[in-house]
Amino acid sequence: MKKLENQTAIITGSSSGIGQGIAIEMAKEGANICINYLSSEEGAEETQEEIEKVGGKSIIVQADTSKPKEVSNMFEQTIKAFGTVDIVVSNAGVQKDASFLDMSIDDWKSLIDINLNGQFICAKEAAKEFLRRGIVEERSKAAGKIICMSSVHDIIPWGGHINYATSKAGILMFVKTLAQELGKHKIRVNALSPGAIKTKINEEVWKDEESREKLLELIPYQRIGEPEDIGKAAVWLASDDSDYVQGQTIYVDGGMTLYPGFSDNG
Ligand code: BGC
Repeated sequence: MKKLENQTAIITGSSSGIGQGIAIEMAKEGANICINYLSSEEGAEETQEEIEKVGGKSIIVQADTSKPKEVSNMFEQTIKAFGTVDIVVSNAGVQKDASFLDMSIDDWKSLIDINLNGQFICAKEAAKEFLRRGIVEERSKAAGKIICMSSVHDIIPWGGHINYATSKAGILMFVKTLAQELGKHKIRVNALSPGAIKTKINEEVWKDEESREKLLELIPYQRIGEPEDIGKAAVWLASDDSDYVQGQTIYVDGGMTLYPGFSDNG
């Protein structure tokens, strides 16, 4: 039996990058997918085609995850199509980089709105649906699973990206507190913290040879990650194989969080 057979997953920001990788891996394991996008309908259709290739079912819903009404509409549409929601991957996020002195309050606020407030809104809708439905034993031991997308920058400070690093540090405590609060309802809440994964968000770094070499100095395992690496970890976190994992942030980063600068220094 596939690991997510007959379960339904909403994956925000799944029209590209990590979200797309998770959608495809979860579909391979039998999950029905709600593909969510903000601006790239084309990307969402690409994800849908990939899901079809692996024999999966999906719908596409446009929604801005920082807007509660749009998020509840996304849940309604998913429930209408597939009956309920078992897994929510709160993945949608952005970078709006600037040095601290150049960063505008708008770039601070709008990023926090998407990366942090958006995850609050999605988790709340998820918890409501999981509580309404309760446990369905044939599908999963848990009443539902929330997976938040964090980053290695929830613990690695990142100059020039203070809004982003702060939003992800917020997710670290959000996940722990929510897991503590919702555990008694058999709702599991965990996070994934990717390192450098080859996506559009950081293509400037991995496309250029010189900066790619510099980036590899930060990765003990000596390769840049692929969306599939995060997809496979997300499948595990959503499945009953990780049923006793609660409130954890799992670093999928080729060792980026191991202070690589200390390997021959200090
Ligand atoms: C960022 C990427 C960056 C990676 C490692 C991620 O959270 O979105 O741009 O390459 O962290 O620094």
